[in-house]
Amino acid sequence: MAEIIRRTPMNLILIGFMATGKSTVGRVLARGLGFEPVDTDAIIARRAGKPITGIFEDLGEEGFRGIESEVLQGLLSRERLVISTGGGIVTREENIKDLRSLGMVIWLNASVDAIIARVVDNDERPLLQTDDPRKSVEELLEQRLDMYKEAADERIDIDNLSCDELAYGIAESARLWFAGNN
Ligand code: S3P
Repeated sequence: MAEIIRRTPMNLILIGFMATGKSTVGRVLARGLGFEPVDTDAIIARRAGKPITGIFEDLGEEGFRGIESEVLQGLLSRERLVISTGGGIVTREENIKDLRSLGMVIWLNASVDAIIARVVDNDERPLLQTDDPRKSVEELLEQRLDMYKEAADERIDIDNLSCDELAYGIAESARLWFAGNN
């Protein structure tokens, strides 16, 4: 008798709050695995012909989220990718479904202090251009924690890990995960 077994696509997807190193780790990880690095923010900026800050200025957050969902959907048939995502991609339920159907989802989790230390003096994140960036980080994190949890297959606390340690750890987890899911 024939049996249909769902195979998980061979992709790694990095999610997590702003400034948790998703793009940098994604590139290192992709090189190590021989996968293609894909950065949703970079594709969005290329498609819109302007930086993320410009998209927020011209189209607002909703406009940005619309392009973000389209970009994610455009990756659905692809394989052997390491996909680094923007920190707010989990705020749309439909995106969580797409992320999960794309492959193994890894949540890079950082403390508020670590995030603040990384975003200080950086004006490329429109949602943190506020009078009190620490409060904005705390509020957004609070709103999003359950969304990251829902989307993720695995969480990694990154505060005390170097980029290489992270990439190595993720590659090992992925090997085990795909062996058990395919
Ligand atoms: C956002 C995170 C950013 C970028 C945009 C919105 C968010 O990406 O997508 O500024 O809502 O958390 P990074 O997580 O790479 O900073």
